[in-house]
Amino acid sequence: MDSATARELRDIWLEYSVLLFRKVDWTAAEHIAFTKTFGTLHIMPRLGTEIPVNLRQHPEIFVVSNIEKNGKPLGVKRAGWGWHSDGEDKQVPNMASMLYGVKTPKVGGDTGFASTYRAFEALSPETQAFLDGKRARFSRVEMHLINYPNLPPLTEEEKRDRPDVWHPIVRTHPETQRKCLYIGRWAVEIEGMADEEGGTLIDELTTHIAKSEFTYIHKWQPGDVVLWDNRCTQHCAIPYDDSKEERHMLRTTLEGDVPFHLTTDGRRVESSLDQ
Ligand code: OGA
Ligand code: MN
Repeated sequence: MDSATARELRDIWLEYSVLLFRKVDWTAAEHIAFTKTFGTLHIMPRLGTEIPVNLRQHPEIFVVSNIEKNGKPLGVKRAGWGWHSDGEDKQVPNMASMLYGVKTPKVGGDTGFASTYRAFEALSPETQAFLDGKRARFSRVEMHLINYPNLPPLTEEEKRDRPDVWHPIVRTHPETQRKCLYIGRWAVEIEGMADEEGGTLIDELTTHIAKSEFTYIHKWQPGDVVLWDNRCTQHCAIPYDDSKEERHMLRTTLEGDVPFHLTTDGRRVESSLDQ
């Protein structure tokens, strides 16, 4: 792509948050090269698993798959079953992800996408004001086995590498400056709220984001490539019968920056580690 085309594509992506390209047939190197036109590639670490999470020859490609070859899994099974945005449990979450459907089920295996701009805009002015500048604690350590019950627990070293992080619940998108809701399945606590009360609010907000009026459900065809913006959307792999259907997906992931929010009273709130 020339730079004018790349700029145009980025503007469309910033407007719509999720882009779909159909009938793509490319190599891992082409997938990587195309992703690089959007930013810096991120390499996924293994977490609580001996399973290779990335392609051996191309560690920039993360494999979501339920297929086994010679008794060995080709990738991570049941990745992303539950609403989230990629890297939300880290101080520097991932800006974007690009998922390529190689083998997609005839029945099920869809992916839901939610606009967290729309979800924020639909909240009452009182709730928007209440959340403005508040942060939530996201915890890989507390939620790993809840969100990934089929994976082994984190080692002590992995726990040290993934400390909890506080993110602004209302997030200012760094490129569009629009406000969105930033909360998901790794959130465990809300600043200034008792555990139970905060937990109830987290549940309410995550349920709110997944309402049908804010979501698009993508039915995959082999050769589909979906690029999504993790800063202003959430996504969810919708559970399917993975004992019957084969699903094999390749994902590239882009580096992001530290989330922040500019409050209506002029404060800048940033994500920080829990220490
Ligand atoms: C992901 C993810 C959803 C899916 O790759 O980040 O959450 O439907 N995948 O496979
Ligand atoms: Mn995901």
